Amino acid sequence: YFSAELPEGLRRLPGPRALPIIGNVLEVGGRPYLSLTAMRKRYGDVFQIQLGMRPVVVLSGLETVRQALVRQGEEFSSRPDLYSFRFINEGKSLTFSTDGAGVWRARRKLAYNALRSFSTLKGTTPEYSCMLEEHICKEAADLIQQLHGVMEADGNFDPYRHIVVSVANVICGMCFGRRYNHNDQELVGLVTLSHEFGEVASNGNPADFIPALRFLPSKAMKRFVDVNIRFITFVQKIVSEHYASFDKDNIRDITDSLINHCEDRKLDENSNIQVSDEKIVGIVNDLFGAGFDTVATALSWSVMYMVAYPELQERLHQELKRKVDLDRTPRLSDKQHLPFLEAFILESFRHSSFLPFTIPHCTSKDTSLNGYFIPKDTCVFINQWQINHDPEQWTDPSSFNPDRFLSADGTEVNKLLGEKVMMFGMGKRRCIGEVIARNEVFLFLAILVQKLQFLALPGQPVDLTPEYGLTMKHKRCHIKAIVRTRDDQ
Ligand code: HEM
Repeated sequence: YFSAELPEGLRRLPGPRALPIIGNVLEVGGRPYLSLTAMRKRYGDVFQIQLGMRPVVVLSGLETVRQALVRQGEEFSSRPDLYSFRFINEGKSLTFSTDGAGVWRARRKLAYNALRSFSTLKGTTPEYSCMLEEHICKEAADLIQQLHGVMEADGNFDPYRHIVVSVANVICGMCFGRRYNHNDQELVGLVTLSHEFGEVASNGNPADFIPALRFLPSKAMKRFVDVNIRFITFVQKIVSEHYASFDKDNIRDITDSLINHCEDRKLDENSNIQVSDEKIVGIVNDLFGAGFDTVATALSWSVMYMVAYPELQERLHQELKRKVDLDRTPRLSDKQHLPFLEAFILESFRHSSFLPFTIPHCTSKDTSLNGYFIPKDTCVFINQWQINHDPEQWTDPSSFNPDRFLSADGTEVNKLLGEKVMMFGMGKRRCIGEVIARNEVFLFLAILVQKLQFLALPGQPVDLTPEYGLTMKHKRCHIKAIVRTRDDQ
């Protein structure tokens, strides 16, 4: 954009000079959350880079991001048409597709309502406040059994490998009304491949921006396509079984409720937004896909921080012992009495920032931000990692210190500060699973901390360097766990 083309009063976006063809791909490099955070120091909260031939606007700073995603949400809430997104859910994903505002809004509302009703549904016995609590308590108890078994057999385990199955079972329970055994090859094979998805679906993947790269053989791309096919095949089989046994007087789970919605909609002649049955039932793909890797990654990071900081792990256990007791299983209602656990979770989110960027956004019309002109259809990255490590917001941002969220006497969580941790996006595209996710992370951790002590293997300190992706994982590793007995409290 030459200055002559700029609308009056608006400035041209600052940013690094771009090379022909590749643009700034080399400067952005393999850890874009770090390189783009460094560029923000130089160019400010709103700047432009060039990935291949395509300009990308990078937003940083809590207030700037709030301005774009909340106050100007209408203009900043579309998704860009990226090459890799076409392979996700056959291009019909609620989360990644370029659906127009009307269709996306209708699907998002359906997804949100389905999630809410199947998580708040009554449990099968009065002991549980809701179905979500029941699923988590049962899966956490089973996870402890699993870990106990693996410890006896092998003396160590890979935490992500086991946590991800338990978390997947919670969302499978709500979406499909079923759970899987920890050794079920079909499920385990699928859920342990999620890093192959995140590697390609990450912000700044060069193949999304440099068309020539699509024609070169790429192992990562092949794995990504395979994972998407396996994923959709897995879900479609379950969906077909649901169609075959569907009974509108007995809606068993989210899949049934979406099928039912297709039937209802046929009766509703006034509906002006037309959404195909495929796009309605396909929502379950998004919920299942978004629902296991994110929460499993969050829990896995928390376990690693406990291993890295044994004194904090001990404080967590002592808080549980004092506030809940060791004889009964913690519940969601215990959250308000466990401020240190809440602070620990907030700090795990902030410090790892394992979703370093939101899913990319795109402008739906010409707009401006902080006085800079941004044309329609510009791809926008939101740097959540920068917000969570901004030295203007956080003292000593690189140190892991849950106490930063606690009042001086340690009895209360500073809610206002907690809200400054950005992990779920904000505005119109904000995560719709946030409440479920926070509840899962809290309750799984409370139950694990009560019953187990996690430890590094001798001579193998844990490595907390994140591996870049849509969700960043710590390096896969092995640790051990000791079942706590009453005597050693
Ligand atoms: C979108 C974070 C768990 C469902 C998102 C986005 C983020 C996010 C950053 C993108 C926001 C944007 O593009 O601006 C997380 C984190 C989780 C988590 C950190 C766990 C700790 C879940 C769960 C579900 C879920 C459990 C569902 C069961 C979704 C969906 C979207 C989304 C459907 C797409 C929304 C849209 O495009 O309109 N999430 N999420 N998420 N999340 Fe989550």
